[in-house]
Amino acid sequence: MTNFWLIPDNEKRIDDLIDKMTLEEKIGQMTQLSPSIVGGFDLPFPELIEMLTEGRIGQEEFKKIMQNAEMDYREDQIRAGKIGSFLLNNPTKANELQRIAVEESRLGIPLIFGFDVIHGFKTVFPIPLAEACIWDEDIFAQTARISAREARSHNIHWAFSPMLDVSRDARWGRIAESPGEDPFLASVYARAKVRGLQGNAPGADDHVAACLKHYIAYGAAESGQDYNTVSMADSLLYNVYLPPFQSGVAAGAATVMSAFNDYNGVPCTINEFLLRDLLKERLGFAGFVVSDANSIDDCIRHGSTADLEEAALKSCLAGLDMDMNSHAYSTYLKKLVEQGDIPSELLDDAVRRILRIKMGLGLFDHPYVSQEKMSLYDVLPDEHIELARETARRSIVLLKNEDNILPIDQSRRVALIGELADLPEEVVGSWAMGFNVTDCVSIRQGLLNAGLEVFYEKTCGVASPFDPDELQRAADRADVIIAVVGELISMSGEAASRADISLPGQQETMLKAALKTGKPVIAVLMNGRPLAIPWLKDHVPVIVEAWQLGIQMGNAVADVLLGDYNPSGKLSCTFPAQVGQCPRYYNHPSTGRPGAKSKFSSRYLDAPLEPLFPFGFGLSYTTFSYDNLKVEQTADQVLASVEISNTGKYAGEETVQLYIQDITASLVRPVKELKAFTKILLQPGQRTTVSLAVPKAHMGFYNNTMDHRLEDGAFNIYVGTNSRDCLQERIDIAF
Ligand code: BGC
Repeated sequence: MTNFWLIPDNEKRIDDLIDKMTLEEKIGQMTQLSPSIVGGFDLPFPELIEMLTEGRIGQEEFKKIMQNAEMDYREDQIRAGKIGSFLLNNPTKANELQRIAVEESRLGIPLIFGFDVIHGFKTVFPIPLAEACIWDEDIFAQTARISAREARSHNIHWAFSPMLDVSRDARWGRIAESPGEDPFLASVYARAKVRGLQGNAPGADDHVAACLKHYIAYGAAESGQDYNTVSMADSLLYNVYLPPFQSGVAAGAATVMSAFNDYNGVPCTINEFLLRDLLKERLGFAGFVVSDANSIDDCIRHGSTADLEEAALKSCLAGLDMDMNSHAYSTYLKKLVEQGDIPSELLDDAVRRILRIKMGLGLFDHPYVSQEKMSLYDVLPDEHIELARETARRSIVLLKNEDNILPIDQSRRVALIGELADLPEEVVGSWAMGFNVTDCVSIRQGLLNAGLEVFYEKTCGVASPFDPDELQRAADRADVIIAVVGELISMSGEAASRADISLPGQQETMLKAALKTGKPVIAVLMNGRPLAIPWLKDHVPVIVEAWQLGIQMGNAVADVLLGDYNPSGKLSCTFPAQVGQCPRYYNHPSTGRPGAKSKFSSRYLDAPLEPLFPFGFGLSYTTFSYDNLKVEQTADQVLASVEISNTGKYAGEETVQLYIQDITASLVRPVKELKAFTKILLQPGQRTTVSLAVPKAHMGFYNNTMDHRLEDGAFNIYVGTNSRDCLQERIDIAF
């Protein structure tokens, strides 16, 4: 549905408008800026950002400082038609600026306001890595729909999401923002998010334009270090990193953001092959491409352009339509066009794409947001809070539950330890900027809301020392210990890669001491990435992966711990056993010497063969058995059926997963690839037959020149409860 935004009447209007535009006005449309910070606080802005990223000030404090900062909103430039888009989260100011654009600029073209609405706005939902553990397309769409509604009421027309970087390296901080390591799950997520954000038809004033980012391969930053170089075969790009973007484009995404990294030695920002040939020509993308923040300028440090002028030239030639914050287009495009280095048709194409989205969004007809609409979500509606709680509890992944310690009984007295249990502002995770901290429910508060008797002692911070006396005080009064351990928000997200992905600080020491008390210990993890926690897996009887679940985190964790909700989340990413295993992911290409006991196999001398927890893994309070896998084929489908029973005592939801392996192919193929999944709810003792279908057209792959190949031969079909534990059948296919 790439013609989602191609509305014939609008196209005509746009042509007329372009005819009237001066060169400066066209360049204005291609320019996105933030307000510039003039002052109002004692420190230089970069230092403030450093303090935030280093965790010396929290998000809340940063927000307060920014609210008081003195800003230049560039009114004169807007009036002169020199700005097409603004990065802003201030609805009243946005109306004021819009009024200048619409009423005082020569052609009255409205601004489009963009903002990072990544996993919610006022209602913050789980971080994407966590939400992806729900494996549910409708939920993915519903959270996006509510995010869009809240953002649009705040005069935000354009969300810089979904982030679709396939992320295989737990060291990379931005794995938190991604739907995880699997291209198929990420593709489902992509189309759902686009549908949720944009609605079924452009123009509805409670929807926003989506932005697929970061195009492309940013998740493959070498050694998981943010902004690092990327090196990959083209077939890997086409088969693994591109599919989520293809899916988002096919769903009608309005915009795409180029990535910071290079691809094949050319920064994505100036990569004509990626932007013009692949995205616009081959995929038929009809929207516009925006750079990532200052990434045109970054080309100078890449050593790919001598200066900002050359960077502007190469970006524009490559097909980058809008410059985010580099001031490259506004400074140099005029000269470059006038001296004939850039054909004016390229600018017309970029402007047409931008106006197409603005018009499609209805901004020409409804440029403002009423005061009444702005305050619509000052108090969060019940429906939003309920969805936040529902997605939060569904995102939780039960990693271990020895002796069925969980669920705990309401009458248990709980020693709650760990700093993270009592920090409401930490529940939201990275990239949450529209919420009120008063809406955030900490785990401590959630357990209290559930009516539990809770004795809380901080005992250990993420970065502050373990205090044995505090542990003793809490443990003495309780019969079970809940330890909330993990990472601070500042430890994941952008510019937050970690070379050591174990539990930070002395949190493991605290857990060891907690075990020594002899009371049952439940570890609740709060983190933005998979952690390497082999000691926990071996020693702590219960591990609940609770990520950063958004504003309803505390209530959701209480729901799961008390058994009001039977956990059903399945990992969207592999947990490595040690950081040295990174990047560790389930769908790696076959090697000539697969990992085994023998020395001359693909393995480490000093690490286990297996990861800690595989992709797709997640326990329930009940158990499921899988039997009788049958695989058949029709002319265009492979059909698998399997019998599944609930063999435990609780009703439970299971995500049934189907993987394929192309056993012989002209290019080395992955050991397993997810191709289908479905969710079922079974009562205790209930048995059902589940059928899953894979279109044969989806069983092929792209070669290095992006020709799609469907090669006859044998395939393994796996169906199971995670990527490791599956039943298996072999089938021969002639396409
Ligand atoms: C990030 C993007 C984000 C942009 C605008 C950049 O630093 O990489 O994901 O959308 O900033 O805030």
